[in-house]
Amino acid sequence: MMAVVLVLKVTASVVINYRNYLPPNFSSDFLRGREGHFGGPYRWAFYTHIASGPITLVAGLILVVTASGGKFPPWHRYLGWFQVASILLLLTPSGLWMAYYAAAGPVGGIGLAILAIATATTAALGTRSAIQRRFSDHRRWMWRCFLLLCSAVVLRVFGGFGTVMKFTASWFDPLAIWLSWILPLAVFEIASRLQSRWSGVSGRRSSKTS
Ligand code: HEM
Repeated sequence: MMAVVLVLKVTASVVINYRNYLPPNFSSDFLRGREGHFGGPYRWAFYTHIASGPITLVAGLILVVTASGGKFPPWHRYLGWFQVASILLLLTPSGLWMAYYAAAGPVGGIGLAILAIATATTAALGTRSAIQRRFSDHRRWMWRCFLLLCSAVVLRVFGGFGTVMKFTASWFDPLAIWLSWILPLAVFEIASRLQSRWSGVSGRRSSKTS
């Protein structure tokens, strides 16, 4: 529940900040110094990205929360198709384009580019497993996809932490970018391995006692 509130709260604070983007305010934090490339395709990538980002994140949240009981509501497939299309056609290409101009420099930019490709890959593999009716694979891939989308939230939490702790080192932002998606994914992989090992052990135990 706390995680749901955190995702919604951070997403709302991101969207409230759009007053600096419509029209673009080049003295705001994110747009400062970007006049040069904002005239070209970057502008289109930027507006596509800031429109599709919160939508895919909130759609992902609704999809994983409502499917957590093991049953999918009837509208799950429509919202799912909408979400995957937004990720593949809007969020990933715009994120890739913007990664080239990342404020954190090339190391951070590469981290964001890999994040974009990983998000698209998990969405595509999740869709394929749903079409093939391999629903436990589908669930795992879509959780990975959602956690990758949550990197936007984790990154802003790290950013807030960095500001409070007055971190000014140049390595902080690139490191925060990489950790924002590797860390949640690593926790998920370790937790799933432990869970399957544990359910295997308890399954063997109950078959011995019966
Ligand atoms: C998971 C795939 C994502 C990738 C690869 C990605 C990539 C990027 C990149 C490269 C930038 C520019 C960074 C810079 O120049 O320093 C950016 C900015 C931005 N992203 Fe994403 N992003 C993703 C997901 C999201 C999501 C889910 C949201 C929704 C909250 C989002 C919202 C934004 C916003 C609003 C900005 C503009 C800066 C700001 O206002 O904080 N992104 N993103």
